[in-house]
Amino acid sequence: MTDSPLLQVRDLAITYYGGGSIIPGRRRSFDAVKGVSFDIAAGQGFALVGESGSGKTTIGRAILRLVTPSRGSIVFDGQDVTAFGRRTPLSFRRDVQVVFQDPRSSLNPRRTVRDTLMQVLKRHFGVAGAQAAAQAAELLDQVGLPSYHLNRYPGELSGGQQQRVAIARALAPKPRLLVCDEPVSALDVSTQSQILNLLADLRRDLNLAYLFISHDLAVVRQVADIVAVMHRGVIVETGPTETLYTQPAAEYTKILLASVPSLEPRRRARDAEIPGVQ
Ligand SMILES: Nc1ncnc2c1ncn2[C@@H]1O[C@H](COP(=O)(O)OP(=O)(O)OP(=O)(O)O)[C@@H](O)[C@H]1O
Ligand SMILES: [Mg+2]
Repeated sequence: MTDSPLLQVRDLAITYYGGGSIIPGRRRSFDAVKGVSFDIAAGQGFALVGESGSGKTTIGRAILRLVTPSRGSIVFDGQDVTAFGRRTPLSFRRDVQVVFQDPRSSLNPRRTVRDTLMQVLKRHFGVAGAQAAAQAAELLDQVGLPSYHLNRYPGELSGGQQQRVAIARALAPKPRLLVCDEPVSALDVSTQSQILNLLADLRRDLNLAYLFISHDLAVVRQVADIVAVMHRGVIVETGPTETLYTQPAAEYTKILLASVPSLEPRRRARDAEIPGVQ
């Protein structure tokens, strides 16, 4: 049992039906994911990379139970996620958390950082008052923000600080898998690098597994052990990160690598980074 992966995805297919089409007579269904399989071990950084529309977010949504697969299975910690029915077990709701691209829209602008974190702690663990406030401060510390930010509203924070708060909120239920969907795409390059470092540190410290979704190969390199390259709803290649970068097998991976001019400049920016909170 200990050898089985934390997440096992098998032959996953997802079709979207209806809506979205403004052209009369156009096909009303779309096969966004067409038979995808992969495993994520506990504590592993697994990245899905591919061009826009290749189906990355759709896979993340299926794991989060926001979309129903048309075929295949998703097994988390031995439990079949697709067989949960309407009620998602509390343990799963804690174990799998998500960080989105845009922290501004994922945080409630009318809530202070403290209230945001305390609300999650109350919902998942029933803690409130001074105990929850202390835990909120701990969470903020874990993402590298000083405690005076607890009194702030999201609008009073920079984009990087907002994303740190969003990460703290995701950590609050003590997850085992973090789905990160383009978590640094809305940030400038040096802030991206700091957030990626934070995510890498948290993974190590907390033995967190990541499903890291990105269109940017340079970004993925910093956080993933394994990279799966997606193209039009299928995985065309999966491999250890460094192997995939140095010896890509699939033609599409080679094209993707060739189209990343940012790879070297980004690395230089990372190397030049000054540690600490922006
Ligand atoms: N709710 C929906 N209804 C119909 N089609 C959808 C829906 N959501 C996504 N799609 C389509 O499914 C395909 C895959 O979308 P998805 O969002 O998974 O792509 P992605 O790889 O995350 O792209 P990006 O890098 O732009 O975020 C796209 O062609 C998209 O237009
Ligand atoms: Mg997406």
